[in-house]
Amino acid sequence: MLNILVLYSTTDGHTKKICERLKQVIEKQACKVAVAFIEDEPDIELDAVDKSVIGASIRYGKHRPQVYEFVRKNRQILDSKPNAFFTVNVVARKPEKNLPDTNPYLKKFLRQLSWKPQELAVFAGKIDYPKYTFWDRQIIRFIMWVTKGPTDPGTVIEFTDWTKVDDFGRIVADM
Ligand SMILES: Cc1cc2nc3c(=O)[nH]c(=O)nc-3n(C[C@H](O)[C@H](O)[C@H](O)COP(=O)(O)O)c2cc1C
Repeated sequence: MLNILVLYSTTDGHTKKICERLKQVIEKQACKVAVAFIEDEPDIELDAVDKSVIGASIRYGKHRPQVYEFVRKNRQILDSKPNAFFTVNVVARKPEKNLPDTNPYLKKFLRQLSWKPQELAVFAGKIDYPKYTFWDRQIIRFIMWVTKGPTDPGTVIEFTDWTKVDDFGRIVADM
């Protein structure tokens, strides 16, 4: 049985939810999957891992610094085995920005690290205005107004295409 490590970086928990869904899909393909928060496991041992997946969300245009640090530190061992990366953001709710080649955050992230994971994915995230701080809510509502998204402060909406997540889980199981 192959050991697959799925690491996530999240602020509000949605990327973790995507990773839990990936775990369910990948485990159906006779793999053992561990899901962990990258910030709890900066020194996690990758020797016993057969394949890795890293998923990270965007906040104000960036993935969290711990993701960069983890990839830089473990680059050699990550690249020595099948590996995948996915990003989560709300820009990806737009069909023209939801692919590895068209999502600006993913393109910038990979360029900054000069990294080429074997498999890539872009998932649209969630908006949960009631959960945000006052200023985050106003700023995200303004960005949504500019980009023709929902602005009602009571909006809670998942833009995630779960079929796409399931498909990616099968790709990871096969890679
Ligand atoms: C304060 C804040 C800033 C955000 N900034 C961006 C952004 O710059 N671009 C974007 O596409 N999505 C942005 N988002 C949307 C998040 O990427 C989206 O909510 C995602 O689902 C968060 O995933 P997480 O819960 O795993 O952190 C932002 C969300 C919040 C709350």
